Amino acid sequence: MKILFIGDVVGSPGRNMVEQYLPSLKEMYKPQFTIINGENAAAGKGITEKIYKQFLQWGAQAITMGNHTWDKKEIFEFIDDAKYMIRPANFPEGNPGKGMVFLNVNGLEIAVINMQGRTFLPAIDDPFRKIDELIETAKKRTNIVFIDFHAEATSEKEAMAFYVDGRVSAIVGTHTHVQTADERVLPKGTAYITDVGMTGPYDAILGVEKETILKRFLTNLPVRHEVDKQGRAQLNAVLVSVHDKTGLATDIERILINEDHPFFAD
Ligand SMILES: [Fe+2]
Repeated sequence: MKILFIGDVVGSPGRNMVEQYLPSLKEMYKPQFTIINGENAAAGKGITEKIYKQFLQWGAQAITMGNHTWDKKEIFEFIDDAKYMIRPANFPEGNPGKGMVFLNVNGLEIAVINMQGRTFLPAIDDPFRKIDELIETAKKRTNIVFIDFHAEATSEKEAMAFYVDGRVSAIVGTHTHVQTADERVLPKGTAYITDVGMTGPYDAILGVEKETILKRFLTNLPVRHEVDKQGRAQLNAVLVSVHDKTGLATDIERILINEDHPFFAD
């Protein structure tokens, strides 16, 4: 089985890239499941119902989130009905939504989990203890388990990856917006990358207008983050190949599309 995961979609430049390239990516790689991290999809912070539905319409089966989950207030109106939206599972008890969903295609079932790190991010429940609980629940139904670990610190991402190695199919990092070149299948069979990278503005700083961020660094004055809509755009993703029965990974491939790395569909 193949799983395509598209990294943090940022604002309209990111959404346009998904709309433009997802059909060709699906044609080329033929993934059974496509997952998108959508926590920055609405103007860089949060997601709306319209965007959530667009992602599904464009071919995603699940949308994962992160620290910006609650930034667009309308999410409280629709998250309980959004069957394919997954917010960090270690948000404290009482948060709406869910941290794991099961998806089915052609007789195969996959559990998709979203988890958030705690280093340099708000204090939430322990992701390590929480993942034990979720893996146990997931394994009662399927060996194919995919984790989007939304975290800031590389050390926390690597620690979590080795913690779940051999117990899940893949754990991919999101949130830091720059694709890392450390993709690999860990010794016990779990595919891993520290960060998938983001899908959105390319001539910008993590997706935000560069002038604004430069002003912040040069003056230390507070600035308003705006998604860059003037420059070029990029798409960052990974394709994970998984053994249908054991759920263990056989391969993880980075996908990077921008003007310096053009996409050529055969
Ligand atoms: Fe984030």
